[in-house]
Amino acid sequence: MILVTGGAGYIGSHCVLALIEKGLNVCVFDNLSTGNIRIIKDLKKIKDFEFVEGDLTKFEEINNIFKNYNIESVIHFAAFSQVQESTIDPQKYYINNVYGTLNLLKAMLENNVKKIVFSSTAATYGEPLYIPIDENHPQNPINPYGKSKLMIENIMDDYEKAYNLKSVRLRYFNVVGADKKARIGELHNPETHLIPNILKSVFEKNKEFKIFGINYDTKDGTCVRDYINVEDLVQAHILALDYLNKGGNTNYFNLGTTIGNTVKEVFDSCEKITGKKISVCIEGKRAGDPATLVADNSKIRKVLNWEPSRTLDESIKTAYEWEKYYRSNK
Ligand code: UFG
Repeated sequence: MILVTGGAGYIGSHCVLALIEKGLNVCVFDNLSTGNIRIIKDLKKIKDFEFVEGDLTKFEEINNIFKNYNIESVIHFAAFSQVQESTIDPQKYYINNVYGTLNLLKAMLENNVKKIVFSSTAATYGEPLYIPIDENHPQNPINPYGKSKLMIENIMDDYEKAYNLKSVRLRYFNVVGADKKARIGELHNPETHLIPNILKSVFEKNKEFKIFGINYDTKDGTCVRDYINVEDLVQAHILALDYLNKGGNTNYFNLGTTIGNTVKEVFDSCEKITGKKISVCIEGKRAGDPATLVADNSKIRKVLNWEPSRTLDESIKTAYEWEKYYRSNK
């Protein structure tokens, strides 16, 4: 059985969907602080799986999972992930992300489970020194969120050396889109991400979409990001697990497309795909937003034979379909 922590969250739930559709046995562990029980219920309609509400910061709760289920490997999504919040309340991030992961790893070791796929982030690189960013780029995170993820990466290196615990760390760029059949999708509260925020302005009267900064050193002055489709991203987790199951060593990979798009380009695509004129305004820069973040993904292509297959427009279409479904089935 595969343990998925954070399986009620945006990315975790798409991974659970892919795993259950492959007929794999899954146990989801989630404290529902940012994850959503609605998503678990919707997933269970597709195929049943184990769901346990619990908190990684309580060692017994996570240890009991290993005692009660035959867990062979772990995919670890559970984390707080809002950059800005992490600068205001770093303790929340270090306790939940770092201490929570220490408990998870302790429970794994006590129960002799030695394979983990971990959600890391491009935020571990900090302000880019060159673009595209490859895995050898120095990791100098500039906010507590990125630091918490880098700490975990470093802990995993030490645990491999000392305890032979094998990890694959996937450093996500900007994850977008939803299930192609619109059964699940992105559901954050508050929503801070670009595409869901643009789509909100399609559905909610008087809600203007805010562009954060128009004088970056980019082709149209707005930030450039590498938008990777969530279903493509999830496939990389399944390949990473296969890699560990076949005896692969600890490794780390960027998960991006190598294609950069500006905020304005994403906005224009949203107008085109929805067929709606979306109201927009210009705001000042958001603290800590680098001008450009684009991945070099040659390592994961080569080692895991992964490649992205969905375009940004496809991601926007699925996100839009999900928003329509969600709003009519609230
Ligand atoms: N943006 C807007 N308006 C919005 C929301 C976002 O203009 O309402 C802009 C941002 O300024 C940024 C781009 O859209 O330029 C993308 O912003 P997101 O909030 O969607 O994503 P981030 O790039 O800030 O964050 C993502 C992940 C983080 C991760 C980070 C790595 O969500 O978890 O990449 O830098 F840490």
